[in-house]
Amino acid sequence: MLEWSDELSVGIKLIDKQHMILIRAINLLAMAVQRNTSKDLIGQILETLVDYTDTHFAYEEELFDRFHYPETEEHKASHRALLKKVIDFKTKWETEHTEIGPELLKFLVDWLRTHILGSDKKYSSFLIKALGNE
Ligand SMILES: [Fe+2]
Ligand SMILES: [Fe+2]
Repeated sequence: MLEWSDELSVGIKLIDKQHMILIRAINLLAMAVQRNTSKDLIGQILETLVDYTDTHFAYEEELFDRFHYPETEEHKASHRALLKKVIDFKTKWETEHTEIGPELLKFLVDWLRTHILGSDKKYSSFLIKALGNE
């Protein structure tokens, strides 16, 4: 299970909130898998995860564009790659009926943690400053 901690904060309230929601969705998925919940419910959680990931990435990217964040291109590329992985994950689950095992959940937890702690933290001071000057 992934737990929110201050270490994950990027210092921007709305983005922290969105990250918390993503963490909750992944934990919900882990719980559903653990408890052998119905395929329908797992499908719904995956759908929500894909949608919300997309919404969250779009929000960050909108800020990058608005303030001409210097690492916009790299960050957008990593968003595209991550979103593709989550969509592939969902498609695989739907079409091949693969089990969602611990390694797949670990992958989701890892990407979220690595992305927030790596790429997202990098924009933190830049965006805090830009938003403060608005
Ligand atoms: Fe993010
Ligand atoms: Fe990001």
